[in-house]
Amino acid sequence: MDLRIEPAGALKGKYSVPGDKSISHRAVMLGAIAEGDTLIENFLPGEDCLSTIDCMRKLGIEIEGPDNAVVKVHGRGLDGLAEPEDILDAGNSGTTMRLLLGILAGQPFFSVITGDASLRRRPMARVTEPLGQMGAQIEGRQGSNLAPLAVRGGNLTPFFLNSAVASAQVKSAVLLAGLYAKGATTVTEPYRSRDHTERMLEYFGADVEVNGNHVWLSGRPCLKGQKVVVPGDISSAAFLIVAASVVPGSDIILPGVGVNPTRSGILDVLWEMGADIELLDRRDEGGEPVADIRARYTGKLSGVTVGGETIPRLIDEVPVLAVAAALAGGVTIIKDAAELKVKESDRIATVAAMLGMFGADVEQLPDGLLVRGGRQLKGAVCESHGDHRIAMAAAVTGLAAEGETVVRGAECIDVSFPGFETIIKSILK
Ligand code: S3P
Repeated sequence: MDLRIEPAGALKGKYSVPGDKSISHRAVMLGAIAEGDTLIENFLPGEDCLSTIDCMRKLGIEIEGPDNAVVKVHGRGLDGLAEPEDILDAGNSGTTMRLLLGILAGQPFFSVITGDASLRRRPMARVTEPLGQMGAQIEGRQGSNLAPLAVRGGNLTPFFLNSAVASAQVKSAVLLAGLYAKGATTVTEPYRSRDHTERMLEYFGADVEVNGNHVWLSGRPCLKGQKVVVPGDISSAAFLIVAASVVPGSDIILPGVGVNPTRSGILDVLWEMGADIELLDRRDEGGEPVADIRARYTGKLSGVTVGGETIPRLIDEVPVLAVAAALAGGVTIIKDAAELKVKESDRIATVAAMLGMFGADVEQLPDGLLVRGGRQLKGAVCESHGDHRIAMAAAVTGLAAEGETVVRGAECIDVSFPGFETIIKSILK
């Protein structure tokens, strides 16, 4: 599908962003292995989270919905999953595959999990190795690095993981496997990655302790089904926040967006660039911090240097941050972000190629991007490379560029932001 964009009129008023993708996945997974029902409201009905529902159904869990973003999971407890009769398909979703591998590692049965062409190229050894050391047998191509992966789980021993990467998917896979091991499993990471798994495990009744970059979990807890109200996804909100920051006259409110500090690096960096963003009515919902976000055009963004501990806090927002950088004055350097190469696409390459099509001055670095901002961008025909965040970043660039933009392969946006196209069309001149 092609998405056509013209330079936009101002973005005005309230826009609702769909539920958080990371939290939606976790609510279904924990709901499935908890005792009793879990009611999930504002669930993200994007394709990634539908893949998680589909896998859990194949593992014998009855799930109602999504119906108006409401999902009911009839949990069967830690030991209630059944051997799947067919291959589990995680689609495009790295979170589904890596987190589910953690759960499958603890099951006394055989399962096979695969995904689409992009996911079958993404590295899984980062989870299959520690899960193997815990006692699961996992086989796949390239030394169990590439899906399809066959898992024979069960009889896990607790583990201490000192992870080389700051990855919530790695941390979560090991913690979920740790639920099935008698004793304490701990994970240490170089920088703190998103902590939704820790928060939700605690909310469902597990014994979890967090101390800086270390997480400790006691195995074999009794998880109890809960009501989870999923906050709006800051990763989706970021596209509209950047759009409002670069399209003259814009002034928008995004109600009920998650502002967990392990996710809100994009706000910190946009503030540093000079963006006009306010957090209104800050509150806590279901163990997660939430706020209404107001974003207004300022017309004077400037370049920044971003790296280190900030990177895991905005890793999914780098494509749209690069758009802001291309439209800002001065140079932006994004470093320590080599992880971008193993996302839904190689985002160092695809962001540079996409912005280059608009006439932006962007250089690829081994671990990030260097953007010399301030050029007048010209509408372009860009490819999504099957990557939802590249497609949306291109659409936002198109709003601020001169002339028409076409985003090819824009159907992948449904992976995380169903309704994005409708919002964009509503603001076109
Ligand atoms: C996610 C963790 C991040 C992120 C992904 C979602 C999660 O991946 O990029 O979109 O829900 O845990 P990594 O753990 O690979 O950094």
